[in-house]
Amino acid sequence: MNATPLAIRCRDIVKTYDTGGQVVTALNGVNLDINMGELMMLVGPSGCGKTTLISIIAGILDQTSGDCELFGENLLTLRSKDKLRFRAENIGFVFQAYNLLPALNAAENVSVPLIINGVKRGEAERRAAQMLEKVGLGERTMSLPAQLSGGQQQRVAIARALIHSPRLIVCDEPTSALDHESGQNVMNLLKAVALDQQRVLVIVTHDARIFNFADRIAEMDDGHIVNVAHSAAELK
Ligand SMILES: Nc1ncnc2c1ncn2[C@@H]1O[C@H](COP(=O)(O)OP(=O)(O)O)[C@@H](O)[C@H]1O
Ligand SMILES: [Mg+2]
Repeated sequence: MNATPLAIRCRDIVKTYDTGGQVVTALNGVNLDINMGELMMLVGPSGCGKTTLISIIAGILDQTSGDCELFGENLLTLRSKDKLRFRAENIGFVFQAYNLLPALNAAENVSVPLIINGVKRGEAERRAAQMLEKVGLGERTMSLPAQLSGGQQQRVAIARALIHSPRLIVCDEPTSALDHESGQNVMNLLKAVALDQQRVLVIVTHDARIFNFADRIAEMDDGHIVNVAHSAAELK
């Protein structure tokens, strides 16, 4: 028995994209362990493979080779129906582009993960309204995404990722559209709502103002992890 069970275990992950004859190597042998209860940040220059890596960890994308386990499950080997269910129950994803459904209002967007997990619509929207309150959007439950600012849409996306209490939350640049205070509020909320000893939080970011929230910071370059720091002071 391990003292601290691993939440995420990546071994020799390679990912190539084949775009009409041209092969791009996005990940070139990534090894990374992330513990339960840990807030791991992922930093590195644009194009180094951050989004690709978190997409593989979350089972949205299949690696070309290598092994990735999430809570002891190898998502690559699950049948697609089981994988969809595993993802729906266990993972919340905040996409860089928010990916809100344009025809649904804020509360309806936030309730989607609950509805997928079998919660009735009325109950789902009631809980969605409570979560929107927590991210400071209690007054905007009826607003469509197009009626909200970028920062407000980002908070709706965060509320949607948290609503079903997933064990893994993955966020791609969650504070990029937020001012300093809103960014700190979102990080405090993520830590309070999304992190305990059974759960894990992985955040891709360029935002040095939030580095102090991390337990560890993994630095990527050119498809590799080049350093894992315990604080911003240890970054290369
Ligand atoms: N769907 C795709 N098709 C082809 N190339 C891609 C695709 N997605 C990402 N890439 C390429 O893979 C590399 C890593 O991209 P990405 O993971 O998005 O990096 P980051 O998130 O660090 O900016 C880049 O060279 C990018 O152009
Ligand atoms: Mg990216």
